[in-house]
This record gives sequence, C-alpha cells and structure tokens, in this order.
Amino acid sequence: MPNVVVIGTQWGDEGKGKVVDILASRADLIVRFQGGNNAGHTLVVDGEQTICHLIPSGILHKDKKCLIGNGVVVDPQVLLEEIRTLTEKGFSITSERLFLSEKAHLIMPYHKALDMAREAAKGKGKLGTTGRGIGPCYEDKVGRRGIRAVDLLDPKALEEKIRINLEEKNFLLSRFFGADILEFQPIYDSYLLMAEKIVPFISNVSLEIDEAIRKGEKVLFEGAQGTHLDIDHGTYPFVTSSNPVSGAVCAGAGVGPDKLHHIMGIVKAYTTRVGAGPFPTELLDETGDYLQERGAEFGATTGRRRRCGWLDLVMLKDSILYNGLTSICVTKLDVLTGLDRIRICVAYNINGKRIDHMPADIRSLAQCEPVYEELPGWNEDISNAGDMDQLPGRTRDYLERIEEITGVPLSIVSVGPQREQTIELMDPFK
Ligand code: GDP
Ligand code: IMO
Ligand code: MG
Repeated sequence: MPNVVVIGTQWGDEGKGKVVDILASRADLIVRFQGGNNAGHTLVVDGEQTICHLIPSGILHKDKKCLIGNGVVVDPQVLLEEIRTLTEKGFSITSERLFLSEKAHLIMPYHKALDMAREAAKGKGKLGTTGRGIGPCYEDKVGRRGIRAVDLLDPKALEEKIRINLEEKNFLLSRFFGADILEFQPIYDSYLLMAEKIVPFISNVSLEIDEAIRKGEKVLFEGAQGTHLDIDHGTYPFVTSSNPVSGAVCAGAGVGPDKLHHIMGIVKAYTTRVGAGPFPTELLDETGDYLQERGAEFGATTGRRRRCGWLDLVMLKDSILYNGLTSICVTKLDVLTGLDRIRICVAYNINGKRIDHMPADIRSLAQCEPVYEELPGWNEDISNAGDMDQLPGRTRDYLERIEEITGVPLSIVSVGPQREQTIELMDPFK
C-alpha cells in the first residue's frame, strides 16, 4: 500500500497540520519523524481548534495510531500536557494508539535554559528560536551525550546521565552565559515522576511501522517546520536543528526509502516566516499587513506575528529539488481574495545577474531582489468552493501558473482552516 510523506516547502506554518488531519482519515498510522515542540500544527474540526506540537496531527481520528519517531526531540512535560489536553477534550490516548520511539532524545530543562541563554547572548543577531530547547537537544544527540526515552526505563542510568550533563551545562550557563545554574534533584525527581506516565508509550517505532506495512496498512509521515528551515538546505544559520526534508523520514522513523511513495509538498499561497533571517519577497507595506491580518498569521507555538510576503517560486523550485515532490498542495488560497494584483517571484536578481536558485550564503540571499510576474487578483469569496469549477477563472489561472512553472501537479487546494474547506484533486494513497 502506498505511504505518503507531507512536508513543508517554505519556512514552516504552511498548513501541514490541516492537511495531515484530512489525509489521516485514509491512513492507518501517522508518524512524526523530526523536530519537536517547536512545531505548532493547527487542526480545526467542527469549529474547534486543536494545536498539536508533538503528537501527530492524526490524533483526532479515534481509530488511528500515532507514532513519534526516533528523529523527534521530545520534551516529556509537553508530551504529557498534550495527552492531558486531548484526554480532556474526550480523546482516548492509550498505549494502543500512541507510540514513542525508545530512541527519541529527550529535551531537558538545561536545553531550554541554554537555548534562552544563547539567544540572549546574541542580542540583535539572535535567530529568534522558539526557546523550546530544540537546538541544544540536537547538539547533545550529535555530541553523543543525549538522554533518550529508553533511559527513562533505567533510573540509575538516568541519574548518571543527568549528573554528567548537568555538570557541563551548569559550567556553561554560569561561567560563559552568566545565567542561573540548575539543581540536579528537582530535575531527576520530575523526570522519574514523568517516566511512570511515559514508559507505557515507549516502543520500537520502526518495528511498529514495518508490521503495519506488512499487513497492508497505510502510513502517513508528517513533517514539521519547512524545507528552508532545514539544517543543511535552509537559510543557515537562520534554520532549525533538524532536517525537515522528505529524506529525513528514513533516518527519523527508521524506514527504508522504498517505503515512501508519494511526497506531498505543502505550499502556502504566499510566504511567511516567523523568526529572523533573510526573506527576499517580504512585504513591509500594507499588502504585507493585509496578508498577515487576513491569514491570521500569528505563530501557533509562540504567538509571534509572522512576517509575510509574495509566493516565492525560487524557494519552491529548490524545495522540489531537495524533496522530490510528487504533488503540491496549495493552502490559504482564500487569503489572497481581495487583492487587485498578485505577484509571484520567478527568479532573483543579484548584482545585475538573474539567478534561479537560492544562494547558500545568506549575505548574498539578503541582496537578492525578486523578479516578479504579475497576475490579476479576484474578489469572489472562495472559502466554500468544493471543486475547481467553483473557483473564479483568475484563481484557477494563479494555480495553473504555479503548476506550469514548477512542473509538479496539484493534489489539494485549501480554501479555509476547516476540514471541509478543501478541494481534493488526487488521492495520494492511490
Ligand atoms: P503548520 O505548522 O504547517 O501545521 O501550520 P500552522 O497550523 O502553524 O499555521 C497554519 C494556519 O493557517 C492555522 O491557523 C490553520 O488553521 C490555518 N489554515 C490552514 N489552511 C488554511 C486555509 O486554507 N485558509 C485559511 N484561511 N487558513 C488556513
Ligand atoms: P511548524 O512545524 C515556523 C523557526 C523559529 C526560528 C527557527 C529556529 O509549525 O511549521 P528552533 O526553536 O527550531 O531552534 O527555531 O525555526 N521554527 C518554525 N517556524 N514553523 C515551525 O514549525 C517552526 N519551528 C521552528 O521561529 O526562526
Ligand atoms: Mg506551525
């Protein structure tokens, strides 16, 4: 049975959560494979909003299994809080349907303290991280001193690992950053207490996926962040610390590339970015404000105002390169309603030269001037369109132009935050 990967093609917040929620009705397993609770995936069902930070966005479908792969960094406190909130909403979150990889690395209080201290020390040059300890946790993973979910099963090993880590982190916090140090005992006690609740969910996620695939079940892999926040391919250093690209599914969930069949790239009909870093098509005028307000562009994790700009096809073409997209899903198309003219960036100009790919050096990227193509806008309300025929001709032209330039077919068009506000053109599981 085909398995589907959903990834963000821009700087995150493309609407991945909504799309995963919709596709989850046709999948059996929904799997997160990278990132952590820096993600905020919004689902709106029957007018009620749920934001998933760690738990896969398939969780509102009561019969689906949700798995958190080894590539995810997990803050146990956030995981338990999310389980509690969902339980209060009437969803049963049992170890029959929620699985946490034994190999997933845990975010510790000192990761959050270091994230904050490092940002504060950078002053004006800060990255604008979510402050959730993501970077420092991945640093420890790669530095081979991280603490993993499996360590929650062994209090003695956990104690030793926390002690060793804390000694080094307290040195950094106090001596380098001039920040407060953290005490061992409260951390150890709280992690032991949380372990009791988390241990039942710990399992071998790759094996769970393999068994499901052998039974003919369908797997949906849910990316977090976006391609241009990728630690390798993004606008480094203004990126996150994981690989949100499709290839990361294999390492981050423990599956072979032969198990991935359809890679769906989520494309917001314009561009947004939360946090610092270059943004060639950013609009610092009333059109930017229009998109920000109509699109309610506030971060789902930190509540920060998102920067807005025109759709950037240079970025998108690079995303196609890094992800191998099978199809494109355009979201938030309704937000463009009411604009006289709509621009799409088709290339950049730098020092009088036209380029078609993003430069690796952010100083060069900051100098890039977008080359725009202009299309006429539309005024009709499209938020209830159920199929392409119900969209105005100019709206269809906009979509066709994206398909034409990218050469990738459209699979879904989203015209509002609700499940029903969706036009499906293709079933990625078929
Ligand atoms: P994610 O991180 O990629 O899952 O995206 P977020 O949830 O952070 O941000 C997307 C926001 O847009 C959320 O508030 C969604 O409810 C909302 N949204 C998703 N699709 C649409 C759409 O087609 N139209 C409008 N107006 N809002 C949408
Ligand atoms: P979803 O999954 C948008 C951004 C932060 C910051 C940079 C590094 O909801 O699309 P980090 O805390 O990861 O070290 O911050 O990455 N960022 C996101 N921006 N959507 C996200 O996730 C993001 N996750 C991280 O704002 O600029
Ligand atoms: Mg988000």
